[in-house]
Amino acid sequence: MNPISAIRGSASSDSAIRGGPQGGRRGRWSSYRSCFPYLSGVTGSALLASCLLLLTVAASLLRPWPVQWLIDNFLLPRPGKIHFLGGALSLPEAALGAAAALVGFSLLHGGLNLWANVLLYRCGLRALVLLRTDLFGYLQSLPLAYHRSRVQADLAYRVAYDAQAIQALFQRGLGTVLGSSATLIGAAVVLFRMNPVLASCALGVLPFLWFVVGHFAGRIRRQSGDLQDKESRVLAQVSEGLANIQLLQAYGSEENALATFRSHVEASRQANLRFLWTNSLSALAATVITALGAALVLFVGAQQIPQRHLTVGELWIFLSYLALLYQPLEQLSYTAWALEDAAARLARVFEVLQTGDTIPDLPQATDLPRSRGEIAFEHVRFSYEGHSPVLQDLSFHVAPGQRVAIVGPTGSGKSTLLALIPRFFEPSAGTIRIDGIDIRTVKKRSLRENLAIVPQDTVLFQGTILENIALGRASASFAEVEKAAQAAQADEFIVRLPQKYQTLVGEHGLTLSGGQRQRIGIARAFLRQAPILLLDEPTGSLDPAVEAEILKSLLLLSTRQTTLLVTHRLRLASEMNWIYVLNEGRIGESGRHSDLLARNGLYRTLWRAQGSGGKGGDAADIS
Ligand SMILES: Nc1ncnc2c1ncn2[C@@H]1O[C@H](COP(=O)(O)OP(=O)(O)OP(=O)(O)O)[C@@H](O)[C@H]1O
Ligand SMILES: [Mg+2]
Repeated sequence: MNPISAIRGSASSDSAIRGGPQGGRRGRWSSYRSCFPYLSGVTGSALLASCLLLLTVAASLLRPWPVQWLIDNFLLPRPGKIHFLGGALSLPEAALGAAAALVGFSLLHGGLNLWANVLLYRCGLRALVLLRTDLFGYLQSLPLAYHRSRVQADLAYRVAYDAQAIQALFQRGLGTVLGSSATLIGAAVVLFRMNPVLASCALGVLPFLWFVVGHFAGRIRRQSGDLQDKESRVLAQVSEGLANIQLLQAYGSEENALATFRSHVEASRQANLRFLWTNSLSALAATVITALGAALVLFVGAQQIPQRHLTVGELWIFLSYLALLYQPLEQLSYTAWALEDAAARLARVFEVLQTGDTIPDLPQATDLPRSRGEIAFEHVRFSYEGHSPVLQDLSFHVAPGQRVAIVGPTGSGKSTLLALIPRFFEPSAGTIRIDGIDIRTVKKRSLRENLAIVPQDTVLFQGTILENIALGRASASFAEVEKAAQAAQADEFIVRLPQKYQTLVGEHGLTLSGGQRQRIGIARAFLRQAPILLLDEPTGSLDPAVEAEILKSLLLLSTRQTTLLVTHRLRLASEMNWIYVLNEGRIGESGRHSDLLARNGLYRTLWRAQGSGGKGGDAADIS
């Protein structure tokens, strides 16, 4: 089963969208359970690693015996108590044999341990790849409303850092828990068989250790979650500050930004210190408890030797095994705490993966076939979550191949209207149809394949200009990209660049001007050859001459395409077949340019305000 669907299948109702990075904490078991689907691909390797770990434990349990054999048979032999080969070897031969066995067991232990650890590490990395890929893939599928309500850097932190906690499940969870438990059980069995009294003394500390682990576990998980939240805020602050560096410098707000940053860094420092303090205290408590156990064994054991209840070799074995007993006990305590830390991080990851898609494809959704380009809005209402209505009872119809302009004052809801067509947002009432089909009944992907969108702000990805335009249609040939760029008036500036279409743009490349970016965005949409073209203020940053050229291309293209053009430039709007004037979320007027001018309403006021006055003057911006 796909891990994501498995996780969401087990999602509880309380795990819907949470407000922010401080979202609710899930239980540790629910975090571990959610990891199971990611372990399925590595079960074989994990099983092999488990077997190797058990063999490693056996090798470590064998290590003290050669020394005991040497002590009790050759160094401090007790009369009448000769063991294996005790009488047949001289002391040098026995010492050599014991030393060789010691080295042999250690090598065996080391080799097996190495093999097991490498396997576990690889399993952890593989699970991490799956988890990260799912997380990023799922984030991409979540609606815009979700992304707008979250801090991007916090989501990035969850993908980059929190997800790494799944590795800890292999290293700590499987590696340490299995290895330490087996060592613990093996050592306890041997100790009880050798000397039940001493073994009881040694294991007497267990309840105290258990109490300490439980006492610190919850605290560590809470503090770790808190620490990740604080760290993610530091990252968010840096990424926001650097993204808006020009604004900060222009307004001289560096000091303010630094002060805010300092407060976040300080909060992170304090959370870190709290976490470190709890970790150190818990480790100290565990060490003290096991040291008390060892002291008790030494005290009782030393008194048993004169009474001949114990040989010196056996006391040696006992103390050696005590290390084998306490080391895993301490390891298990640390592991329990490390797993709490991992659980807190994984909770942040699965909180995202269990976020419900608020605009899901219906189970019976079908693919929208290539559209004829007919769009209908029927009594559509829309408001952003928690805000007053932006669009109210909006109804209009666009016939296939029609070129429609949507104009209106700033903030009247034009961009919002366009965003409803690809289902970036869902109307609170009413229906939007394409070719008569309710867009809620088709798969979002197939719906969007029918659309070419030029958003109000053109964003360029890091890559070449060619790649940026080809985003419109990955399968396009170079000639097609070039043709689209020519139609968008982008070709003329691209060919003047040193590397032409191979010029790198975006974060590490050339910075293009607003108008150049806009033309790349238009070329992208032209290349897509989709039946419906949605343009949001596509020429806002362009001079009138370039705009006029693009308009020519648009008019040529849109004989085949339905075009919805949002614009403040009424000269551009006047070239369209039909104009809707949006005012406070409602269609105030509609008609052809000449009809609207004759009507003496809002359109005419806007036209006059632009200084066009019907004389075909400059296309000034009304906003
Ligand atoms: N994500 C959002 N959350 C809440 N309110 C929003 C959001 N986006 C836009 N709005 C509000 O919705 C209203 C309409 O915004 P919209 O961007 O659709 O206007 P517009 O007509 O495109 O304006 P402009 O001409 O300036 O581009 C505005 O009042 C705006 O503040
Ligand atoms: Mg807008």
